[in-house]
Amino acid sequence: MAMSDLKPRRLDQWLANGGYCSRSEARALVRMGRVTLDGERARDPGEKTRAEAVRVDGEPLEAPGGLLAVFHKPAGYVCTHDGREGPSVFDLLPPRWKRRNPVVTTVGRLDKDTTGVLLLTDIGALVQHWTSPRHKVPKLYEVTVDGPIPESLIELFARGTLMMEDEDKPCLPARLEITGANQARLELTEGRYHQVKRMFATQGLTVTRLHRSHFGTYTVEGLAEGAWRFLDLAEAMGGVS
Ligand code: URA
Repeated sequence: MAMSDLKPRRLDQWLANGGYCSRSEARALVRMGRVTLDGERARDPGEKTRAEAVRVDGEPLEAPGGLLAVFHKPAGYVCTHDGREGPSVFDLLPPRWKRRNPVVTTVGRLDKDTTGVLLLTDIGALVQHWTSPRHKVPKLYEVTVDGPIPESLIELFARGTLMMEDEDKPCLPARLEITGANQARLELTEGRYHQVKRMFATQGLTVTRLHRSHFGTYTVEGLAEGAWRFLDLAEAMGGVS
């Protein structure tokens, strides 16, 4: 949604929802003169205003209509907010994102040791759309395993009959391309727990390296590990039915 289409809100609400401060701290931020409205120093945190009028420390509000970004996940980070599981991808992202309302979440999860495309958003409809197996969003993985990959796996994975341990439904058909003795590309349209690793485990193969190169049309091209960029929200929302 364009910034100009957003309904006016109280200034302290814009600031708190954007993760700049709590609603009660907004008063102090305004008193310090760090907030302007249409170029004039803001006085009243309760004043109703349009998003595009607001500047904090001279900068426009960040993604006031919803945040959508692609992140190049490095290995060694988990995709939860819970610090007990080890370093989190959120430690590598702007601290303000942890305080936004609605909260910013990852679209699905990558394992701690997996690298590659990770989408982040605070828009529930996008998370639902992209993670629902109904919409069959293709995810492409580059996989290295600890042994030779037999050609027969191409047909086996494509058939849609592969049963993983502890599951009562077979995996949806998946496209496997063998790219080296121990290497392959695997395209999935669902995202079950540890799915790539468990699919190869059915054949006695252990995944030793896993990189997601594509999520739908999104890639990490041009992004170093640990770097992120905003994505076009209007374009993404256009694809959500
Ligand atoms: N499948 C896995 O096994 N791990 C991931 O991180 C993603 C897909």
